[in-house]
Amino acid sequence: MDSQPETTARRHQRIIMFPVPFQGHINPMFQLANLLYSKGFSITILHTNFNAPKTSNYPHFTFKSILDNGHENERFSQSSLADFAQNFLFKQDAAEAFRDELELLLASVQDEQVSCLITDALWHFTQSVADSLNLPRLVLRTGSLYSTIVYSSIPLLDDRGYFKLDDSHLEEQVSEFPLLKVKDVKKIGIKSSKDPLAQLLGDMMKQIKASSGIIWNSFKELEETELERVPDDFPIPRFLITFPKYFTASSSSLLEQDQTIFPWLDQQPTKSVVYISFGSLSQVEEKEFLEIAHGLVYSKQTFLWVVRPEFVKGSTWVELLPDGFPGERGRVVEWAPQQEVLAHEATGAFWTHSGWNSTLESVCEGVPMICSSVLADQALNARYMSDVSRVAVYLENGLQREEIASAIRRIMVDEEGKEIRERARVLKQIADVSAMKGGSSNKSMESLIDYISSL
Ligand code: UDX
Repeated sequence: MDSQPETTARRHQRIIMFPVPFQGHINPMFQLANLLYSKGFSITILHTNFNAPKTSNYPHFTFKSILDNGHENERFSQSSLADFAQNFLFKQDAAEAFRDELELLLASVQDEQVSCLITDALWHFTQSVADSLNLPRLVLRTGSLYSTIVYSSIPLLDDRGYFKLDDSHLEEQVSEFPLLKVKDVKKIGIKSSKDPLAQLLGDMMKQIKASSGIIWNSFKELEETELERVPDDFPIPRFLITFPKYFTASSSSLLEQDQTIFPWLDQQPTKSVVYISFGSLSQVEEKEFLEIAHGLVYSKQTFLWVVRPEFVKGSTWVELLPDGFPGERGRVVEWAPQQEVLAHEATGAFWTHSGWNSTLESVCEGVPMICSSVLADQALNARYMSDVSRVAVYLENGLQREEIASAIRRIMVDEEGKEIRERARVLKQIADVSAMKGGSSNKSMESLIDYISSL
């Protein structure tokens, strides 16, 4: 624990932080900001008006909107990464505009030292700006170590022709990453290393390597093998901290979280409820949506299903659901306080799209998973949870009602599920220890604090 004078002294050290404006990126950046604030640093958050954070939840931070002139709180409700990249990352003058803003900000800070800039790894162009202003830049990588390593091998995977293989090869193993099948790599969503997304990830990797350090929302024991590999790929200071163990992601939620579910959850038997959520961006086709609904009914388990508005392509909300659904057994809500739901004793399993935050939140609460994957790093996370950590069943062949029901029952009812649940419980304990004094995550946090203090 820090002594009070040490914490107080650090109030004169300010950290400027810049999240990417999507829920899965905002949450870990705010968890990190809370952590650094709790250690005494003063915090300034730079943000776009698009998906602007709820500043009222953070009276202890300073906020500054930059880069776009959109209306406050404008949400591109179904904005894809490509739209975002178009609007912000590929804009010719983005670096210049960022430099102007940052320079003004640095000039306005008095009686304080700005220690560093921490940006999401995707804001790659901020590295040259930070360099030109002699400001150290650290990056927050919101995905796992494993997915970062796979992403850094995209040019290699492209050279070997994986992205161009046709569907007859989907079940084949990727020899460079024996854990993965061709279909996992193809799900990243890249057709060749000339794709704008591939180029964006390439720029991100290059500027991570040029940065003063990288922070992952993870912990050593979860990704031990990857940690041994990572020094070759990222020869910079590296920190692995399990954010959900210190601060919940709920305070930075962009959507209103439905709190009315708790009296209902309180009435359910221990570990009897399947919680389902596909994160903040993923969408499904109408047919897939109905398969999910039927699969839930077929499973005969109690469920709490988050159906985000516009989750179903071409639909507003749940108007496609059959009459009488969800019936006695289920509840459907627009958005939930996810971490708190996972921590609730009635929750028995989490059917997730395998976004990294959701995955780690589930690991931290010891909840076994049914993993789906839609895009980006999700198939990599799903594969890792099912085959390495072995705390999940991977629903790897799309969404069909019988397979859905069978995967749910494997976790909730079958003997196999007991073993998976037990491994999830043990992994939670390891995560708990890691966050305690002397544990790996805690030590990594302490060394991050020392490192930033020394900059
Ligand atoms: C995406 C990627 O999928 C992810 O892998 C990447 O690292 C970051 O961006 P997203 O698809 O939204 O994010 O998923 P995820 O990373 O799981 O983040 C979703 C967040 O929203 C979680 O922190 C979760 O707690 C929160 N959430 C989700 C809610 O607060 N309520 C809900 O009902 C559902």
